[in-house]
Amino acid sequence: MEYNKILARSFSQHEQKKIGYCAIGVCLAIAVLTSFTVISKPSYLTTSLPILNYNAGLRMLSIDEDTSSNSLQRLSVDVVTVTDNRMIQEIKLTPVCDVLDPRFDICEIDGHIRIQGKSSSVLYSTLSAEGISSTRNESWRIKPYARKSDNSAMKLVNEILVKPLLKNDLSHPNCTTYHNVSAMIFSAGGYAGNHFHAYTDVLVPLFLTSHHFNQQVQFLVTDFNPYWISKYKPILSHLSKFPIVDIDKENDVHCYPKVIVGLKFHKDLTIDPLKSPKHHYSMTNFTQFLRESYSLKRSSPVKLRGGKKLPRLLIVSRKRTRKFINEGAIAKMATSLGYEVIVEEPGVTKDATRFAQMVNSCDVMMGVHGAGLTNLVLLPPNAVFIQVIPWGGLEWVCRVSFEEPAKDMKLKYLEYKITENESSLIQQYPLDHAVFKDPVSIKKQGWHALRFVYLDNQDVKINVERFRPTLLKALELLHM
Ligand SMILES: *[C@@H]1O[C@H](CO)[C@@H](O)[C@H](O)[C@H]1NC(C)=O
Ligand SMILES: *[C@@H]1O[C@H](CO)[C@@H](O)[C@H](O)[C@H]1NC(C)=O
Ligand SMILES: *[C@@H]1O[C@H](CO)[C@@H](O)[C@H](O)[C@H]1NC(C)=O
Ligand SMILES: *[C@@H]1O[C@H](CO)[C@@H](O)[C@H](O)[C@H]1NC(C)=O
Ligand SMILES: *[C@@H]1O[C@H](CO)[C@@H](O)[C@H](O)[C@H]1NC(C)=O
Repeated sequence: MEYNKILARSFSQHEQKKIGYCAIGVCLAIAVLTSFTVISKPSYLTTSLPILNYNAGLRMLSIDEDTSSNSLQRLSVDVVTVTDNRMIQEIKLTPVCDVLDPRFDICEIDGHIRIQGKSSSVLYSTLSAEGISSTRNESWRIKPYARKSDNSAMKLVNEILVKPLLKNDLSHPNCTTYHNVSAMIFSAGGYAGNHFHAYTDVLVPLFLTSHHFNQQVQFLVTDFNPYWISKYKPILSHLSKFPIVDIDKENDVHCYPKVIVGLKFHKDLTIDPLKSPKHHYSMTNFTQFLRESYSLKRSSPVKLRGGKKLPRLLIVSRKRTRKFINEGAIAKMATSLGYEVIVEEPGVTKDATRFAQMVNSCDVMMGVHGAGLTNLVLLPPNAVFIQVIPWGGLEWVCRVSFEEPAKDMKLKYLEYKITENESSLIQQYPLDHAVFKDPVSIKKQGWHALRFVYLDNQDVKINVERFRPTLLKALELLHM
């Protein structure tokens, strides 16, 4: 059976909050008892369908396993179950909104939906296709960008109001354009201008939320940015075959049979297959999808044994912060070990497809922790990825943003942690300064202090002799 069904009634905002704090089973049981007249078997946590007597007012809490496999308390409501002797019919009343995840809000709406872009409104019909009228009068304010608890990011995200189209209310706008495909509303605002955030906050979530539509979905983008859209066009056009709409500018009232507002999110720059039991997505599905989107040829690195080709090393260059001071010396040493070396700064070339092909042609990629490393998504599986970790308590950030994703992409992960002597900080602070002796104390001053000292004002001068074994290890991994 496709869904885990949970009985409950439609929770009010206040009740949702309560439910977030208390034991799932207890709360749901109470909710069930207060809302149903006849229940043969409260069946949360089982997959068997409860038999209910007909009652058009009944609602069931129905949780799409893909949205919330591990948190049953998340809200999403509404299947009317009608028993007609042994026949069970289900009529889904929507929206089904999940607003309890710490990272994203999402509403999935079926029926007759009107979207008025200019007022950022999504109006849902309270009358189901089967003619059953819902008494719901609920609204949701959704910021469709998967970084919900980050206020600085969310300030840069437009809010979409999902509200009912009440019968008899003639002030509501009428449809001017009808569509017969699903629509998905998401934001290209927030931090999406940064390559890492573009992937972790938007593109991976977009893949998770839209891939199973097989391109039969139209993207309505709020906080539209033409440069951003064209930069990621190969990816977007592989997820949707319809023109992308700048929804904030739309005067027309667009009407769709299905709309999803917001994107699902699992973990930074990766996919957790356990949270995707329905579609079985993993991060390798995403990277394979990228190879298709950019027509990338290689799905494995160079064969070294007996092969005549040199392994190719990409040194990801940065020019403003966290730059390699001695790129030339690193390249020279790598060449001496038998690498063909390419030094490139991402984002400089306007031709994203050419850049993607260049990355995919490499067998080893190395660089200082930073957004440019996001290009690891384009490497062939089993290639080697070397993260150079700058000085100063950044291990956690480095692990979450690139190490774990790299492993999920089936890349071989190596890291090189620099010493004080390889950091430009040595010219700014005495060796007995807290910056060297006690990075934790800097971290305790908050993200901004950490960022100022270690991310925005540090360059890296690799000790090539100390680094040599890491590049040798990479060769060894390519041999395996
Ligand atoms: C629906 O809810 C809104 C906001 O809570 C309220 O202003 C409005 O009067 C309600 N409408 C009906 C028909 O209940
Ligand atoms: C929408 O159409 C209905 C029926 O044709 C009409 O009565 C109503 O005034 C229209 N609403 C608006 C906002 O134009
Ligand atoms: C949508 O409409 C187009 C043309 O109006 C039609 O060719 C297509 O089959 C329709 N698709 C669906 C899923 O109804
Ligand atoms: C995801 O990848 C696995 C393993 O390669 C494959 O079996 C599965 O079909 C892929 N799923 C999708 C939706 O592409
Ligand atoms: C850094 O350089 C100093 C002075 O040359 C030396 O004494 C120290 O051992 C070096 N530290 C490391 C970790 O290499």
